[in-house]
Formats: sequence, structure tokens, C-alpha cells
Amino acid sequence: MSRSIAVVPGDGIGLEVVREAVRVLETASRRFDLDLTLAHFELGADLYLARGVAITDEEFELLAGHDAILLGALGDERVPGNEHMREILLGLRFGLDLFINYRPCRALDPALSPLTGAADRAIDLHIFRENTEGIYSGIGGRHRRGTPDEIAIQEDVNTRRGVERIVRAACEFTADRRLGLLTMVDKANAMPDVGGLWRDVFSEVTSEYDGFDTEVRLVDAMAMDLVRRPERYRVLVTGNLFGDILSDLAAQVTGGLGAAPSANLHPGGHALFEPVHGSAPDIAGSGTANPLGAIACAALALDHVGSPDAARAVESAIATCVAAGPRTADFGGAASTEDVGQWIAERVSA
Ligand code: NAD
Ligand code: IPM
Ligand code: MN
Repeated sequence: MSRSIAVVPGDGIGLEVVREAVRVLETASRRFDLDLTLAHFELGADLYLARGVAITDEEFELLAGHDAILLGALGDERVPGNEHMREILLGLRFGLDLFINYRPCRALDPALSPLTGAADRAIDLHIFRENTEGIYSGIGGRHRRGTPDEIAIQEDVNTRRGVERIVRAACEFTADRRLGLLTMVDKANAMPDVGGLWRDVFSEVTSEYDGFDTEVRLVDAMAMDLVRRPERYRVLVTGNLFGDILSDLAAQVTGGLGAAPSANLHPGGHALFEPVHGSAPDIAGSGTANPLGAIACAALALDHVGSPDAARAVESAIATCVAAGPRTADFGGAASTEDVGQWIAERVSA
């Protein structure tokens, strides 16, 4: 069956890492005889600055027509408010109702973790971040702007339906993979209304499942514990903002932001894959960005379009690359983005 993936490299290192992810996808497509088409979209800061529109309705519909979207990163200093990033990335997450932001964090090489004793810790963590609500909802505003009485309000919107579906997705995943422990993360001590809803729903939904333990953690203590004993945790489910912050933390603890993938999902519907990292203006253009996060997204996308063999081949090539292949500077090596992409593509084609 023919499948198509829309490719949006975006800004900064997004362009560099997606080039390698595409190389790997094209190689996997040949090696596994997949009928896979890649369609490129130039959306990003350049286009926004040139035409004043980040994404048209027509472009949105075209993207939505593909089986998956692969996005690099969006963010450019020439767009001070990064409104193009919100319109494209948050526009796709909200507009396609991609309510699950799934962020797996696995230690590829314990030596890459900044934690002491990492070799004895098997860190394998799965974050389920709510992706269409919370303070990302865009409800609020700035009033009396520029005066000493200025007020800025950004509402934290949480609906029972929204909380229930992300908690249920995390429960299904924990049960299917027999991971044994599901942890819900909130800030119910300072935010009793939002936390209260999350706790009520968490308790109701998890009571329908057997076979795994459940617990609730406050986000500040959770951040601490992800540094103290990350190996204790298996699946975290949390709101939009806490999930954003904890996923960067967990990525670094397991070895580095550069290798962390994420999947924005609506089961049975659309899917958008993007590395957890941003456009990294500090290294953009140097050819030294780690492409592993983007290549791991390619593997997730291959799974999504029904090519698990190709996905496993890419994942195994990533693992071999970290163990015995070239490494970019963030992983302690001197290889270029392209060196890593080419090495992985060669393994996938073998
Ligand atoms: P960032 O993730 O871009 O970079 C943080 C640090 O990690 C930097 O030192 C960077 O060099 C390093 N880093 C990130 N990815 C790397 C990689 N693949 N290889 C090696 N090093 C890597 O975060 P930031 O600097 O806060 O954000 C830069 C821009 O990206 C901002 O405009 C932000 O809004 C945007 N952003 C976009 C996305 C997205 O599109 N999904 C995600 C996060 C941030
Ligand atoms: C991420 C990013 C985005 C987010 C930004 C760019 C809006 O940090 O995907 O983690 O906060 O969701
Ligand atoms: Mn983030």
C-alpha cells in the first residue's frame, strides 16, 4: 500500500537534521521495498518573513492529507515572538487534535548520562504529555500594556474530556507493554482546581485497569527524582507545560536532547513526528547537530505508516551507531551531522 510523509524541515538545525532523517527514510524505503513518497514543505521563518503568512489553509490541508508529518524544528531570532512557530507547530497539534505527545527516553549509552552510577541504571521512560490544552490554549491577554499596572494572563485550560483521554492513552500503553508503573504528575498543592480534576480523573480511569501500580507526584519533586533515580519510573502522564519541561530534563538525563524523538498523535488519526529539541541557533549552520533525534522520529514514522521491519532496522542502526559509530560533539565525538546520517543509512541499506 502506498504511503506518504510530509516533510517540514523548518528552521535552524531542523534543516540539517531532517536532511539526514530523509536520507534514512529513502534508504529504508528502497531496502524494504516500501511504496513511500516524501513531500517537502518549505514552511519556516524564511517563508514567513517573505510573505507574512506562516501557513495557509491550503498548506494545512495538504499536510493533513499525508499519512504522517515529519517536522525538524521551528524558531528563528528574526521572528522575535516566534509567531510562525506557534501558527505552524501549535496550529498542527491543535488543529489536527494531536492530543498525545509521546516522548520516549531511553539511555542509549549510560556513559552519555551526566548522572553518576548511570551504568547500573536501566533508564527507560515514556512520557505522555497532554498536547492540546493547558496553558498552551492561548486564552488570556496583556492588559494596560506598557503601564505600571500591566497585567498578563495565560489561562491553564483543562477539560475532563481532555484529561481523561490522555490518562487513558497512558493506561493502555502501560498495560500493553506491561510496564508495571504509571505516574501522574501535577502541582495540586498550589493548583488545587486543575490538580483536583487531574487526580479525580486519574483515579477513576486507572480503577478500570489491572496489572500496573499507579501513583501521583508533584512536579517539583518529580523533577528532582528524575535526577535522583530516573530508573524507578516507567510511564509519566502529565499536562502540557510540565510534560514539555520534564521531557527536556529526562532527555538530558538519558544522554542528550539531540537524540530524543517525539510523536504527536491522535490514535486512528493524524500523526506528527518531531525531535524534542528546537532550532538550536547556537550551532545552526555548523553541520554539527546531532541528527539521532530526527532519525529516531523517522523510525517512529515508519512504524506509524505500517513498516515495523524498517522501523526496527533504523532503531537498531541508531543503537549500533551510538555504540560503535561516529558521534557528534554533544555525544563527545567530532563527526558531522551528515557523517552520522550517512553511517546510519549505510547500516539500514545493508
Ligand atoms: P534548543 O533545543 O534549540 O537548544 C537547547 C540546547 O541544546 C542548545 O545548546 C543546542 O545547541 C542544544 N541542542 C539542541 N538540539 C541539539 C542537537 N540535535 N544536537 C546538538 N545539540 C543540540 O532550545 P532553545 O535554544 O531554547 O530554542 C531555540 C529555538 O527553538 C527557540 O526559538 C524555541 O522556541 C524553538 N524550539 C522549537 C521546538 C520545535 O520546533 N519543536 C522545540 C523546542 C524549541
Ligand atoms: C516542544 C517545544 C514547543 C513546546 C515550543 C516550541 C512551543 O518546546 O515541542 O517541546 O513547548 O511544546
Ligand atoms: Mn520543549
